[in-house]
Amino acid sequence: MEIGCKSVQDRSYRIFLEWDLLRHARSLLEANEIRGAVFVVSDKNVFRLHGKTLRAALRDHTVHVWLAQPGESSKSLNSWRRIHAFLLNNGADRKSTVIAFGGGVIGDLAGFAASTYMRGLDFLNIPTTLLSQSDSSIGAKVAVNHPAAKNLIGSFYQPRFILTDPSLLSTLPKRELAAGVGEVLKYGVIADPLLFEMLYEKVEDLMSHDRVFLEEVILRCVRTKIRVVEEDERETGLRKTLNFGHTIGHALEQATGFKMLRHGEAVAWGMLAAGWLACHRGMWETSEFSKLQSILFRAGSLHPLARATPAGVQRALKHDKKRTGKTLHFVLPVSTGKVIIVGDIPESEILGALQFIFNLASSNSRH
Ligand SMILES: NC(=O)c1ccc[n+]([C@@H]2O[C@H](COP(=O)([O-])OP(=O)(O)OC[C@H]3O[C@@H](n4cnc5c(N)ncnc54)[C@H](O)[C@@H]3O)[C@@H](O)[C@H]2O)c1
Repeated sequence: MEIGCKSVQDRSYRIFLEWDLLRHARSLLEANEIRGAVFVVSDKNVFRLHGKTLRAALRDHTVHVWLAQPGESSKSLNSWRRIHAFLLNNGADRKSTVIAFGGGVIGDLAGFAASTYMRGLDFLNIPTTLLSQSDSSIGAKVAVNHPAAKNLIGSFYQPRFILTDPSLLSTLPKRELAAGVGEVLKYGVIADPLLFEMLYEKVEDLMSHDRVFLEEVILRCVRTKIRVVEEDERETGLRKTLNFGHTIGHALEQATGFKMLRHGEAVAWGMLAAGWLACHRGMWETSEFSKLQSILFRAGSLHPLARATPAGVQRALKHDKKRTGKTLHFVLPVSTGKVIIVGDIPESEILGALQFIFNLASSNSRH
């Protein structure tokens, strides 16, 4: 299946989504005029499992490979510098293509490196996690982290195209799949009540890699994300709704040094905190909030919060880069499929939401 995503100026791109697509990617590359040398940026897990299939698809090209250590800590200025050295040492020029082959970490890192080398090389994204196939590969945001804040150094850079092959998820560890449910469920709450209901009915099918269900879930998320970023690529309005669960999610990641929680797990806890705020304010039905909890619990997305504390998260919130002046913004549901942005929540209420998730985390860990 081929889906277009309109972008600014002439930088629109297409998403090719199909089971087993990587095995048949050679003709896709040819048809899209990917010709010169290709520079693959991947991580050690992904390349060990799927590098052979990628190499077969790239057999008409001169291929250079750079591998990161798996995990968030590779999304750094240090990796970005090393990728530039790899490009330079292997003779990358303006006709070269950078291929991101991995999850959201690799997509963000390789895209940022491609956007900054020689004022921008062609970039192709092959996402390999649920989170990156359903969310992060689309929308042109690329970045690396700074010790002071996540995604602080980055840009908007559109890929030539995105090749999404859900069969690659068959090797994804359960914890990573469950983390992806965090971002997927976000689309249900902000824009797609049917997706929310489907996940409530059978999130277990997704966790057991049911092919039909996986494809449908990814496609629904992709469609919503495209609709949002086509209207507001630069995040001046509608795109802000994609931050549902991210205000507290980012603070949790920050407070735990980007090591303890996967991004999707932090978002899952952040969505529960935002859901609690919405219910506390009488904006969202508690029965829907209970369903949100049930889906995340059954998927296994609620990883223990162990060493983090509500006070530590509050400190991290003070450094939120999306603050406007002193105001923190929260995306809160008013019904399933519809959210609003609220900017005047007192600290005591935020603390209430944090206490709710920390209590839940400690009772989960006792069971
Ligand atoms: N650019 C955006 O719009 C956007 C949106 C959401 C999230 N993000 C970013 O995405 C990142 C998180 O991405 P992620 O959850 O994909 O994490 P990730 O890239 O770290 O991948 C998670 C783990 O899964 C492994 N893995 C990946 N694909 C695999 C496969 N097919 N089989 C086996 N193992 C595999 C990786 O080696 C890694 O250990 C965060 O940095 C977040 O900030 C970006």
